[in-house]
Amino acid sequence: MLWRSLVAGCGGYLPARVVTNAELAKTVDTSDEWIQQRTGIQERRFAAEGELTSSMGTRAAQAALDMAGMRAEDIDLIVCATSTPDETFPSAATRIQAQLGMERGAAFDVQAVCAGFVFGLSVADNFLRLGQAKTALVVGAETFSRILDWDDRSTCVLFGDGAGAVVLRAEKGNGSNSDSGVLSTHLYSDGRHHDALYVDGGPSSTGTVGHLRMEGREVFRHAVVRMSEAIDAALEANGLTPGDIDWLVPHQANLRIIEAMARRLNLPRDRVVVTVDRHANTSAASIPLALCEAVADGRVQRGDLIMTEAMGGGFTWGSALLRW
Ligand code: UT7
Repeated sequence: MLWRSLVAGCGGYLPARVVTNAELAKTVDTSDEWIQQRTGIQERRFAAEGELTSSMGTRAAQAALDMAGMRAEDIDLIVCATSTPDETFPSAATRIQAQLGMERGAAFDVQAVCAGFVFGLSVADNFLRLGQAKTALVVGAETFSRILDWDDRSTCVLFGDGAGAVVLRAEKGNGSNSDSGVLSTHLYSDGRHHDALYVDGGPSSTGTVGHLRMEGREVFRHAVVRMSEAIDAALEANGLTPGDIDWLVPHQANLRIIEAMARRLNLPRDRVVVTVDRHANTSAASIPLALCEAVADGRVQRGDLIMTEAMGGGFTWGSALLRW
């Protein structure tokens, strides 16, 4: 028998303020038609003044704990995936730890931009598999609205704010693909692609926070190929085929990328969880937010096989396969 990370609960949080494409078009040289045609985005949420990555992450984490029927003091580890922490340091994870009222355990951030949740899940899963922790919170939380350049229409219309979280609990499994929980994670990065997606500021370079810069077409070109490779690796490692997948819960960057991934897997549209239309790209928060939505509305049932994939700045990319 081997330790497995059962997903005991999940939760999401979205800020109250809805910003439609039409509202953006009042101040940015863009249109609802362009944004919807190129990305599938209709609206996004923006954090209120004073609403921080950590406060949104705490709301999502508390919702995940509630669903799991667990309390903050039951948690051994918090891994927060974010590229927009409240401050350069300490980590958003330690802020979330304090806001949850936790006085024990370890908390740290993982930084892999839009692939952050997959990376964070992988780190926490490995802690649980090795027996170094029995329970973990994996949080993806972002306030990308604070790093957008409102004079750059090619990026400022694409992102939104939000947070999602899962609670992992170590359970014994038989090591087969019929186990519940995280079956595998596959992580990759290639730092040669820095210039395609980065923030032009930071404590060590400019001393400023900076703004997001992206060569969208270049990222798009790599995304489908790289994420497909990560999915193939996950299926092969578990002796499964695309036909075994019940749900694709992809990173939500662009509906055209999501549809290309679904076509490659031969998955019908109603087996793909889509939130990009309402959330836009919430970076590390997008996968747990989408997962929580599909769990809350009853689409995802116990025993279902869920494939997640993401790609972000770096480049970083990967896949995680789980059985609900
Ligand atoms: O989560 C991290 C991973 N990120 C991604 O996966 C993003 C991947 N990339 C994409 O999703 C797409 O490349 C974008 C949505 C960013 C852009 O779509 P595209 O079809 O690649 O458009 P483009 O960049 O090739 O631009 C096409 C045209 C350009 O005009 P010209 O040069 O053809 O006259 C742009 O200036 O669209 C113009 N454009 C806009 N027009 C109206 C760019 N942004 C806008 C805008 N509104 N907001």
